[in-house]
Amino acid sequence: MRFINVRGCIVMCMATMISVLAIAYPVQGEMKKSLYERLGGYDAVSAVVGEFADRLFADEKLGPFFGGWSAEKQARFKQLNTLLVCSATGGPCTYVGRTMPASHQGMRVGDVQFDQVAGHLVTTLDKFKVPKTEKSELLEIIGGLRPEIVGK
Ligand code: HEM
Repeated sequence: MRFINVRGCIVMCMATMISVLAIAYPVQGEMKKSLYERLGGYDAVSAVVGEFADRLFADEKLGPFFGGWSAEKQARFKQLNTLLVCSATGGPCTYVGRTMPASHQGMRVGDVQFDQVAGHLVTTLDKFKVPKTEKSELLEIIGGLRPEIVGK
């Protein structure tokens, strides 16, 4: 009888542990997902950056900055920005471009231009239907780069 009780208790304890794990683990797994993963990984980030960059290249207001670039220069810009976003959002990429101050040195980018560029990112994220949480997390990361870009 005592043997049955001990065994019963072990079975009950294990069943309880399994249920607790089953409930807790997916929630914990979800919370641990990086922004990069939640954005959809490399191809999704690359597609968003590609569209965003094309908007910059086509914007007449930003012509003094992004106008008249060769296809190679455009492709390099897209690649570097993809790597930047990938690594800044917790992805497995290594950003191999210059630092933000070095990249924008001597350009005298103002807040107006920064907002214009950021506006294209918002439009792009909306076009790709990036959910509100992921959109604001990414905008916060990019917005945090403002002091490294504006006024250099
Ligand atoms: C919004 C945040 C921004 C991010 C994340 C960003 C990111 C980058 C990156 C990764 C590069 C390539 C760096 C390299 O060549 O090594 C770059 C280059 C460049 N960025 Fe930005 N940028 C931002 C804002 C701006 C703004 C507001 C402007 C001007 C309105 C601008 C104008 C440029 C130009 C003209 C280049 C090419 C520089 C060159 O080829 O020498 N960027 N940016």
